[in-house]
Amino acid sequence: MNEVASFYGGSGGLVSAIGSALDRAGVDRSALRASDLAPIDEFHIRGRSASLEIIEALGLTAGSQVLDLGSGLGGPARTIAEQTGCTVTGIDLTPEFCAAATALSEWTGLAGLTSFRVGDATVTGLADASVDAVLTVHVAMNISDKPALYAEALRLLRPGGRFVVYDVLQGEGGDVRYPVPWANDPSTSFLATPAEMRGFLRGAGFEVVAEVDSSEESLAWFQAVRARIERDGPPPVTFSAFLGDAFAEMAANQVANLAERRIRTVMLTCRRPS
Ligand SMILES: C[S@@+](CC[C@H](N)C(=O)[O-])C[C@H]1O[C@@H](n2cnc3c(N)ncnc32)[C@H](O)[C@@H]1O
Repeated sequence: MNEVASFYGGSGGLVSAIGSALDRAGVDRSALRASDLAPIDEFHIRGRSASLEIIEALGLTAGSQVLDLGSGLGGPARTIAEQTGCTVTGIDLTPEFCAAATALSEWTGLAGLTSFRVGDATVTGLADASVDAVLTVHVAMNISDKPALYAEALRLLRPGGRFVVYDVLQGEGGDVRYPVPWANDPSTSFLATPAEMRGFLRGAGFEVVAEVDSSEESLAWFQAVRARIERDGPPPVTFSAFLGDAFAEMAANQVANLAERRIRTVMLTCRRPS
């Protein structure tokens, strides 16, 4: 298996592990809402609140066809579908995550609006100009060939459509402390600086219409999550379901990486010229 896919999906049995954890916590799976799953399926810094910002930035209408490149367990796709009624297709390298995303959409009644398939975001095989909007959330950190990723996003997007990139970028504070939730070490981690990221996006042919650095909010978000867990205990399922015991050290490193400005969280809103 690809090294990135085995990092995320190597443990096996993820769907049943999530189902059992929800059952143990007494959660009624037939009444599950997308937001109930945010502690496990919004697998990016600032969770569901970042997905709601992405919806605003994408400029969607009810009939929009949306593509999520690197869709993970499908949290952003379900949040978009639930909030807007749009149809969202997710592509992800990790088969285990696509299976979990499909199951979680069934459990939340969103299977009709969301679908997930295994694939490489740099070569999706989808048709030219076939979608109205594209997003990618905390994925490019694992992809060294960013020009290929952004060329693919441009090719798939209809002219005039929006592409929103919300990613972890290299900060000015020095090398990243590993492990982090996307890599155990630098061999599968390829962070671009904000200036490099702008260059890749413009080089692919996008107009960059907005750039928002949310690093301060990201640090506050980690602190709030930690305080909530200390007060209420952990939610029924967390990223530990697939990252295992290493997640605690990864989360601590993320706090240090943000506080020491080794990483930045940045959202870039782009447009394919008409
Ligand atoms: C940190 S997770 C983010 C998942 C999701 N975007 C979210 O925010 O909840 C990174 C995801 O990128 C996927 N990924 C990494 N490289 C990829 C590639 N070349 N093509 C498709 N997916 C990829 C991984 O399998 C993983 O699901």
